[in-house]
Amino acid sequence: MKKYGILLIGCGHIGTQHIEDIYYRDNIDIIAVVDTNEEKAALTASKYGAKDYGADYKAFINDPRVDIVIIATYTATHLPLLRESLANGKHVLCEKPIAGNYEDGKEFYELVKSASQKVLVALILRHNKSYNTIKSLIDAGEIGELKVMRIAQSHHVTDWERHKALLEDTSPVVDCGVHYFDVMQWFTGAKICEVSGIGNKVEEDSPRANYTLATVKLNNGCIGYFEAGWSNTIASLNVKEFIGTKGRITLTLKDLRYSDREEGDLISIYHRDNREYKTLNVDSEYKDMNAQIQTLIDMIENGTPGSPTIDEVFSAFYATIKADEAIEKGTVIKI
Ligand SMILES: NC(=O)c1ccc[n+]([C@@H]2O[C@H](COP(=O)([O-])OP(=O)(O)OC[C@H]3O[C@@H](n4cnc5c(N)ncnc54)[C@H](O)[C@@H]3O)[C@@H](O)[C@H]2O)c1
Repeated sequence: MKKYGILLIGCGHIGTQHIEDIYYRDNIDIIAVVDTNEEKAALTASKYGAKDYGADYKAFINDPRVDIVIIATYTATHLPLLRESLANGKHVLCEKPIAGNYEDGKEFYELVKSASQKVLVALILRHNKSYNTIKSLIDAGEIGELKVMRIAQSHHVTDWERHKALLEDTSPVVDCGVHYFDVMQWFTGAKICEVSGIGNKVEEDSPRANYTLATVKLNNGCIGYFEAGWSNTIASLNVKEFIGTKGRITLTLKDLRYSDREEGDLISIYHRDNREYKTLNVDSEYKDMNAQIQTLIDMIENGTPGSPTIDEVFSAFYATIKADEAIEKGTVIKI
């Protein structure tokens, strides 16, 4: 079995989650971990047995032992790091969003389209068992025709400085919305064709609106909303509800269940005709980082398409950029 040499760039919140789930796998070899904060890189290396660490990725980017670069740094750095990784012949697993603005996102997309190496963008819900189960239920007609998607993912933050740094690069509707706009297009097989919304700056020192509510229409007639707020004052809210002509599906993550968390996530299916609920317990990892990187390895070894493909990634990204613009201008934008 081939062992894939990994270079992790960015040992923060999400970089740590990547390495935590993959460092002990049979086909993974952690060559080096890098963070501009060298102490963080050193701690990560010693915790997960990386062969080396440093503050500058340039020391490792052309290392022949590195097959895959994981980019887990701030959004504005994703494009330059992708460019350098590809120029050095590396495959890439890059955190979302691909960029904080349209121009960089377009360049990212075009680079991936023309590259001979494989690139997977980390839209982690594509690898989540509960989301895959809901997609199968919808496809099987369990709730009739899907009409409305209600999605909220708001965080009561206790680490404002980290979220402020993310807000420097882009808004919550782009940063987090790329996951859920992708889910909306994935679940319906349709395209987002109209966006609008509202937003406000809740913290005085926030670089931009840190509470946003985007509304979308898809070209099959389905509609949805996506709420994302990151603030010291907001209460966390997690709503995942898919409403059809014959019923609805609601997802409750295991950590948010009142009881039986040990059973995993709870999917509840309400049927209009008999007014009954059916429930499913799904043993699902919220962020299945190993499934995600194995998808990239499958792309490398077998030429399988990405999940999602770069076209799907760009389509969801573009819709969030337009939603952000609509919120800022107070207008409705047709895509
Ligand atoms: N997929 C997900 O569910 C998910 C969740 C959270 C964050 N993210 C994305 O991951 C990215 C990072 O977010 P985070 O929450 O981990 O932030 P973070 O602040 O916790 O970590 C980022 C780390 O990158 C380091 N860094 C920045 N620039 C660097 C560079 N040029 N070279 C080396 N290290 C560098 C910082 O020092 C920091 O330690 C963002 O794009 C964010 O949108 C994705």
